Amino acid sequence: MNRSPFFFLFFLFLIAFSCQKAPTPPDYIIQKSTVSDTAMVVSPHPLATEIGLQIMRDGGNAVDAIVGVQFALAVVYPRAGNIGGGGFMVYRSAEGQSAALDYREKAPSGASRDMYLDENGDVSPTRSRKGHLAVGVPGTVAGLLEAHQKYGSLSWERLVQPAIDLARTGFAITQAETNRLNSFQEQFREYIKPESPFIRDTFLLGHKLVQSDLALTLERIRDHGFDGFYAGKTADYIVEEMQRGEGLIHHQDLTDYRAVWREPIVQTYRDKYKMISMPPSSSGGVALGQLLSIVEAYPLSELGFHSVEAIHIMAEAERRVYADRARHLGDSDFYSVPIDSLLDENYLDTRMADFDVSSAGSSDDTEAGSFTLAKESFETTHTSVVDPLGNAAAITTTLNSNYGSKTFVHGAGFFLNNEMDDFSSKPGVPNQFGLVGAEANAIEPGKRMLSSMTPTIFEKDEALFMVIGAPGGSTIITAVFQVFVNVADFGLPLDQAVAAGRFHHQWLPDMIAIEKDQLSSDVIDSLQAMGHQFRTVNRMAVIKAIQVLPDGKLHGAGDPRNPDDDAKGY
Ligand code: GLY
Repeated sequence: MNRSPFFFLFFLFLIAFSCQKAPTPPDYIIQKSTVSDTAMVVSPHPLATEIGLQIMRDGGNAVDAIVGVQFALAVVYPRAGNIGGGGFMVYRSAEGQSAALDYREKAPSGASRDMYLDENGDVSPTRSRKGHLAVGVPGTVAGLLEAHQKYGSLSWERLVQPAIDLARTGFAITQAETNRLNSFQEQFREYIKPESPFIRDTFLLGHKLVQSDLALTLERIRDHGFDGFYAGKTADYIVEEMQRGEGLIHHQDLTDYRAVWREPIVQTYRDKYKMISMPPSSSGGVALGQLLSIVEAYPLSELGFHSVEAIHIMAEAERRVYADRARHLGDSDFYSVPIDSLLDENYLDTRMADFDVSSAGSSDDTEAGSFTLAKESFETTHTSVVDPLGNAAAITTTLNSNYGSKTFVHGAGFFLNNEMDDFSSKPGVPNQFGLVGAEANAIEPGKRMLSSMTPTIFEKDEALFMVIGAPGGSTIITAVFQVFVNVADFGLPLDQAVAAGRFHHQWLPDMIAIEKDQLSSDVIDSLQAMGHQFRTVNRMAVIKAIQVLPDGKLHGAGDPRNPDDDAKGY
């Protein structure tokens, strides 16, 4: 008997089987630092970076690129790139005009101040973080439409299409995504049906993630704009999903949603720099402005990078600024945020009046709480772009935690945020980032929850200097602050400034958080002798930045803290 056809078929089967068992690892080229002449994108995923660059090669501008990148991230970076969340964009045109767009999620109309308190008046540790009740009305699609209508130059369809293609044909997942998807399976199964592409016994490196339902949702957004998400089929799916749990979002919440243009926070630093950053409903711009204004009075560059003196000053500034954040910041549409007073130089001088160069201050006179930070990892995402004309855009969007509330819009194919946890559920009780708040950030129907997202653009001598931002919850503000100061005061090249270890004081808990092994033991000993206490964290915010070099070239830097961060230009 001739056995060869049988063996041939058997080998074919073996090959097919082994291909299925072990997908080909993706061969993405990921760059953490690069210098280019014309245009630059720094995003958290190489496929999204490439889409942004191609849009600009095709004649698109920075906002076109940001829109294309953001939709691509909704496919390739499901933990945070999103259409089920919200965010902020800061823009500076090549001619120097600036703008800030707020498309933060909103509390649904059925939300109420005490909705996360139990019968004893205690905050439930999970209801604002997991499940349908944690979800705010998403703003991302409205924000991208608004940005495109005002500044876009290519057609909307052209910008959404690459994401549709990626969702329909699939893409190979990276090691970082593989690890994350596997580690969240148990939580996903509480809310997600088994047929979802995110449920699997084991994800393998290079697994091709196909998201057919998401492709259809993106097509509706491509074809119908606002109504493709906030009305019609997608809205029906969202409302149906809400009804599977305790969700509060109704059709009217969706159709009422609007992105809002706001006046950016603009402030000078050491005469030659100008900061353009995000106003409330983010705390980012006010807090960053306060930090820079406070440290401007001290000769940081003489004190030296990571010197005891410089860290002491910067940490004491951070303590005071986060105390202000907790008390005074919230959605300015609902609460009269005293922005001018908070940024007033005289006021900031008084805040540092009790600063002692030789000993740590104290946060003791504040309402205490249990400040154990949740183990839940948190994620947001940021993209920085400079286009060939010199227009710049910084965009930060979020689902809050990794994969948001873990609820998934069945039929429409995307995760929903758990942004309601960014409200202050009860004065003095910390959220997942250990941040406390009060009246200014109390829950009200239709209100935006306070954010720390800090998309920021800096000028130097009136020309574009830096585009910067990060994911990382409460550590975003201090990361943007330190990376900028690392470049502007300490003279570090951008990639080193981004990679350098960071420290973070947020008033409560009264401790400096540091990344493991990033400060010398001598420095830590000296600061401890002054009264500072430390806690170690695995990593802080993940910066994506672009610096315009003195010769006009663009230096893009992704953060080594995220393996998939990718900086590319041409
Ligand atoms: N969800 C994190 C932030 O907006 O600050």
